[in-house]
Amino acid sequence: MDVEILPVELSSSATTRLYAEVIADVTAADNPGVPPTTEPMVQARLRVPTPGHITELYIAVDSQGQAVGRAELAVAEGSAHRNAAIKLQISPEHRRRGHGTTLYSMLRTRAKVLGCETLTARTSWELPDLPAFDGGAGPAFAKAAGLEVANLPEVMRRLSLPLRNNGLTLGRIAASLRQAAHGYEITEWRETTPTAYAQGVAWLESRLAHDAPTGTLPTDESSFDTGWLLESEACLAARGQLSFQAGAIQRSSGQLVAHTKITADPSQPAHAWQQITIVDPDHRGHRLGFLVKAANIRAIQGALPSVIAIDTFNAAANDHMIKINDLLGMAPLHGFQHWYQRLTTE
Ligand SMILES: CC(C)(COP(=O)(O)OP(=O)(O)OC[C@H]1O[C@@H](n2cnc3c(N)ncnc32)[C@H](O)[C@@H]1OP(=O)(O)O)[C@@H](O)C(=O)NCCC(=O)NCCS
Repeated sequence: MDVEILPVELSSSATTRLYAEVIADVTAADNPGVPPTTEPMVQARLRVPTPGHITELYIAVDSQGQAVGRAELAVAEGSAHRNAAIKLQISPEHRRRGHGTTLYSMLRTRAKVLGCETLTARTSWELPDLPAFDGGAGPAFAKAAGLEVANLPEVMRRLSLPLRNNGLTLGRIAASLRQAAHGYEITEWRETTPTAYAQGVAWLESRLAHDAPTGTLPTDESSFDTGWLLESEACLAARGQLSFQAGAIQRSSGQLVAHTKITADPSQPAHAWQQITIVDPDHRGHRLGFLVKAANIRAIQGALPSVIAIDTFNAAANDHMIKINDLLGMAPLHGFQHWYQRLTTE
């Protein structure tokens, strides 16, 4: 059956609704327990585009007007080699009819038109003790579409709140503070990074590209400055997202040497996302990663008691971060894998 591919636009509430419905269908089937992106979140992304990115959202509709799938492409404009990060989902009841192939071919054409050299995607992936609920559809489709596996398995972990062992965790924090981090203090802030720390946060974010495992994914030397930080924080705030941030400050220099961030959306009151956590390489080994994360979790728990789950993604090879997450009580929920395709060699 033929499908029509429509751009998702703020002016057409039918397209934003259908887009969110496909995400909800696919998430319930393939990643049970994960809260799907809501329609208000889709609308906010369209109303306030990600700075420095080209983002295109599409919906595929059959002849009865039923949504069968959705597609997304995001391109960072300033990068040395352009990459199109794609998302492609077909509702479970419409699979194996060629719709995935149709949408993928459209995305690849758009990526080439936008001058992209590579395309990257993510699928479910079976890992020890973590079954893949998509029945292997994602990896089978990716291989059939000619993508290469990036050997970058990733695990989504969840921290359930309120913390079961709150007393113990707080005890650990206090002990670590005394023993390992006496030259540092932990500070917390919300949506906007104080000017004194802005350069430090931008520098730490730039470091992440060097430090986080990337498998065989094509990578870029990204660097972020305070202008970028200001713009991206303003973007999140304009979308109505709530941010909780914490940092470690070296007492002797006043320098920010660790940073972590959690975001939450009011349309998902029970859920939040643990975003970046990074410690300056010169200041590792002082338990600062654990300390900033724990302080931030306590902050969101106090401010948003409706949040009962904080989810995060870690590369399976990121031993240091996983150790911290284990210590905080995060439990593995779903496995994922990354894929890429070079568009220039075709
Ligand atoms: C992966 C996904 C997009 C496929 O959508 P689809 O419409 O079923 O895909 P198609 O019908 O175009 O399948 C194309 C080919 O992929 C392979 N394939 C797709 N699903 C498969 C499955 N469950 N088992 C084995 N092979 C599969 C087959 O080779 C198929 O060709 P065939 O049907 O002629 O044998 C869909 O299952 C989905 O939304 N999964 C969750 C999100 C995801 O993983 N997206 C992929 C990002 S790259």
